[in-house]
Amino acid sequence: MLTGRHLIEPKDFSLEELDSILTLGQEIIENPEKFSSTCKGKLLATLFYEPSTRTRFSFEAAMLRLGGSVIGFSEPNSSSASKGESIPDTIRTIGCYADIAVMRHPKEGSAKLAAKYSNIPLINAGDGGHQHPTQTLTDLLTIKSLKKDLTHHTIALCGDLKFGRTVHSLVKAMARYEGTKFIFISPTELKIPDYIKEEIKGHAYYETANLEEVIGSIDILYMTRVQRERFFNEEEYLRLKDSYILTKDRLKRAKEDMLIMHPLPRVNEIAVEVDDDLRAVYFKQAKYGMFVRMALIMKLLGVDVNAECK
Ligand code: CP
Repeated sequence: MLTGRHLIEPKDFSLEELDSILTLGQEIIENPEKFSSTCKGKLLATLFYEPSTRTRFSFEAAMLRLGGSVIGFSEPNSSSASKGESIPDTIRTIGCYADIAVMRHPKEGSAKLAAKYSNIPLINAGDGGHQHPTQTLTDLLTIKSLKKDLTHHTIALCGDLKFGRTVHSLVKAMARYEGTKFIFISPTELKIPDYIKEEIKGHAYYETANLEEVIGSIDILYMTRVQRERFFNEEEYLRLKDSYILTKDRLKRAKEDMLIMHPLPRVNEIAVEVDDDLRAVYFKQAKYGMFVRMALIMKLLGVDVNAECK
């Protein structure tokens, strides 16, 4: 039962619970009209202390497409956070007005803190370099829909594996599916943290700095941006930012049915010429994000298609 629960990281939900969200997401894709009033009368609060395009807009679009309403802020200076209000006080206040809340914050652990004080379901929309569970739901729905199954894939994660919260969440999630093999492609300075590798015990994995060496064996290539905002040193960022640039030429040796995914935003790491390749699914992925967030909102609010919210 997911009603009333918080989502801080993908492992908060069992595999069966995750699957029920993905299945509902697929039902919504097939017949969105059927779900257009399920959240009538319900209010989503979006608390974004950090910039966002996809996560914020897709959550807002999701709630509006379910017939509900949205309130919120997209940068903290327009809220009382700018006067020094704490996260616990903010979330307790938001709970007086809204039925469900989504929060993005630059500090690791902020979502867990907010959930502790929240009397409404709290969804982590990204906490620093820690976790981004609804991006993972998006990624899982994309893989399930386009590959038909979540098991027995070789997934390569490429780019900033140190600070990339989307990577951390996805690795932890994919490690729960049978037969997943991991390839971690990054410069030494941006290697996947050991505490994430601890999560993939029992799965084969390979670490390299060389994308071309492994590209022919990949089923899912998950490209990521080197994140300027996570660096303390601008020189280091400038040195590493173009470590990987996926081009049409580099894709010549890739499998015909490999998926090219990216949580977006992209900077340089995928050349625009790749967008026309049928394997490039990152904009489809962004669309799946809205449908899976519709499913998540419905599950956490405990509404179903036959029951209008009271
Ligand atoms: N993928 C993702 O989290 O994008 P935004 O930062 O635009 O929300």
